Amino acid sequence: MGKKSISGCGVNHYPGEKKDLPASKRGYSGTREILEGNHTMYHIISIRDFERRDLDYLLDLAQEFDTGNYRPRMLEDKLVALLFVEPSTRTRMSFAAAMARLGGRWISVDSVEASSIVKGETLADTIRVLSGYADAIVLRHPKEGAARLASEFATVPVINAGDGAGQHPSQTLLDLYTIRQSMPVDGINVGLLGDLRYGRTAHSLALALSLYGTTLHTIAPGGLEMPANITLELRERGMKVIEHEDVQEVLRDLDVLYVTRIQRERFPDSASYYNVASSYRITPDLLAGVKDHLMILHPLPRAGEIDPAVDRTPYARYFEQARNGVPVRMALLDEVMR
Ligand code: CP
Repeated sequence: MGKKSISGCGVNHYPGEKKDLPASKRGYSGTREILEGNHTMYHIISIRDFERRDLDYLLDLAQEFDTGNYRPRMLEDKLVALLFVEPSTRTRMSFAAAMARLGGRWISVDSVEASSIVKGETLADTIRVLSGYADAIVLRHPKEGAARLASEFATVPVINAGDGAGQHPSQTLLDLYTIRQSMPVDGINVGLLGDLRYGRTAHSLALALSLYGTTLHTIAPGGLEMPANITLELRERGMKVIEHEDVQEVLRDLDVLYVTRIQRERFPDSASYYNVASSYRITPDLLAGVKDHLMILHPLPRAGEIDPAVDRTPYARYFEQARNGVPVRMALLDEVMR
């Protein structure tokens, strides 16, 4: 992200004041020069654009909002466009909730069928138009790279709310936030279980964890392993990545188990999906002997990979994780629009 001037400043002031920030970050018009000088300072596209101190800054800001340290009308003159070209419950509604909590408003495309996308309008044109309506655009899109492309055409900040099998940076921030509420992220053992090939939450989280000296244990059904280029990138970043065939090999060593569903919508055909469907499931029996503080996270929705009986164990933290989407997205919206 490269926001040298804000990185590491922490939030030791009322978030509404931003007095530690340079003038260019205190108002929308002032960010124009940043937009031209360094794209990724302005948009939230990929975890690759972030340094650790940027993540920590945003997590600190989210913590401030979570503890009620914000003015309810901080974004009262702001409007965000929620452009969701793919289904969503949590991301879309928590961005809307975050905007409402800060006194802002939103407009949205609620279904592709009800928009001019079905008439063949390009993403570039849609983004150009929405840039004239709103102060920021939150985009979910089925194509990897769509958010980056949108940022090239937008004249307002773009937040990537998930681009195909690419990235989901706001999800990663709330994942880190949830972990950080219980334990330091540094040096922990994290297991990523599930569809690591198509799972954008897994890709983003792995890249973020590489900034915290964590050891990553990947457990995926055959054919759904973490893409080799990402594993290589993680190792080049100094991360210890250990691949496992069965979650039971490593479950008792983990501090965090991050479960993901198989991304059925990204499979080329239903036969290849059914080959791997139901190939893993976390049950209470499986959890015998795990660390007392084990956290089980899941970006949700789940589709059978966590037995609902696990919800009643102390390890289940995924609903709390989903709830943390609101303060984290409040921090992101505040950061890009004010
Ligand atoms: N975690 C997540 O992205 O959920 P939604 O698809 O419901 O937004």
